[in-house]
Amino acid sequence: MPKIPFGPTYKEMLDPGRIAPEIRRKALQAKEDELDPINLFNITWKDEVGEVHKVVLPKELTGTEANIVVLLGKYFPSGSHKVGPAYATLIEGCVDGDILPGEHTILGPSTGNFGIGVSYICNLMGYEAVVIMPDNMSKERYERIQKYGAKLDLTPGTESDVILTLQRTYELKKDPKNRPLAQFELLPNYRFHRYVTGNSAIEAVKGVGNGRIACFTSAPGSAGTIAAGDQIKLAFPEAKVVALEPYECSTLATGGRGQHRIEGIGDKMCTLIHNVNNTDFVALIPDDDAVRGLKVIQEGTKVLEEMGVSPAQALGLKDLFGVSGICNILGAIRMAHYLKLGPDDNVVTIATDGFDRYPSVMEDLERRYLETEDFVVRRWARDIFLKPNTENIFDFRGPEAKEQLYRQKEKDWLPFGYSQEYLDSMKEPEFWEKEFAKIEDYDEKIEKLR
Ligand SMILES: Cc1ncc(COP(=O)(O)O)c(C=O)c1O
Repeated sequence: MPKIPFGPTYKEMLDPGRIAPEIRRKALQAKEDELDPINLFNITWKDEVGEVHKVVLPKELTGTEANIVVLLGKYFPSGSHKVGPAYATLIEGCVDGDILPGEHTILGPSTGNFGIGVSYICNLMGYEAVVIMPDNMSKERYERIQKYGAKLDLTPGTESDVILTLQRTYELKKDPKNRPLAQFELLPNYRFHRYVTGNSAIEAVKGVGNGRIACFTSAPGSAGTIAAGDQIKLAFPEAKVVALEPYECSTLATGGRGQHRIEGIGDKMCTLIHNVNNTDFVALIPDDDAVRGLKVIQEGTKVLEEMGVSPAQALGLKDLFGVSGICNILGAIRMAHYLKLGPDDNVVTIATDGFDRYPSVMEDLERRYLETEDFVVRRWARDIFLKPNTENIFDFRGPEAKEQLYRQKEKDWLPFGYSQEYLDSMKEPEFWEKEFAKIEDYDEKIEKLR
């Protein structure tokens, strides 16, 4: 077996304390120089002292007694947690001998953040990369991808046209030199989030409320992140896992297929790697609630203070979230009301990235509303965050609802050559347990071959 590029195991990504001290020290020092390959060892939710990057939102903002705990993805190298699944998919391909340096070009079908992750990882690990994405996403995304060195192959449309990127990837894959990191289909995305994100979420609530997780909300794009819910349910069987969708594009809940403004989620499909057995509820968030909510956090510091948030906390929230992070937060608040959770209860959610890739989205908001003075932001803050809104929450625990999700998955994936038999096997919990157990084997091989 040839050597593979040097990088962390799954266990080291969960717990960087396991990394050899000299390498850990060098990796922490290299944070300022993001293109130093040693930064692969900074792919983790943890900070320098091993604490999960998180914020517990002030109750004056959320209007619920429950603790809303948000894991912060912006501290990952490249600025979003999507670098984790990009690395996991590439390193598994290397270990399996499917992806060879100098021989293969990596394809990254994406709506942006996964593409940024792929471009970044390929730069660090020495692969050529092509990111296939819609041509109408925020301009900050294209700039980052190009900065990290990948080529862009653009398909028409926005977030809800991601299926076109899959069709394009399907075509390009016919060239034997191309290797797709197919985030919607490949299980390293599931393994990374179930193991690394799920266990980090479990650690993040230690010392908060009753130290358990009552609910986990995540808006699926590839449905990698929501796999954390599988691990959370093992630790806390009472936990409810909630998939959030844009109200305008509620594919899982109602078969909806509209255009929307929440980049990274609501991709008009049930992805192959989504373990729908563990999805208890689907809740819909209007897309402009997420965009306007971001404006409130980002520019409404004074308004937040009027609501009773301390000046330090109000200022501290700035730059932590992107649009989908606000969607996840609104889903967490609304589920806290719906489930009637109290001060001991924790709802965990995720901010995939930070504000750095959304200034253009805020400029667009200004253009659309013209008036965004304090009195408007004040009204938005009340309506979007504080109003106890429990509309558009669908219970997906029953067999008929599960059947609806299985059928959606078949509709989306039979056309890409997956067999009915394979899709049926995904209905069984054993399928997911077997896939998850492969982490041991991959970790052993990464240690041996790196
Ligand atoms: C900004 C943003 N939020 C949320 C998601 C959804 O995460 P996942 O693909 O793990 O479901 C993505 C995925 O690309 C994203 O870019």
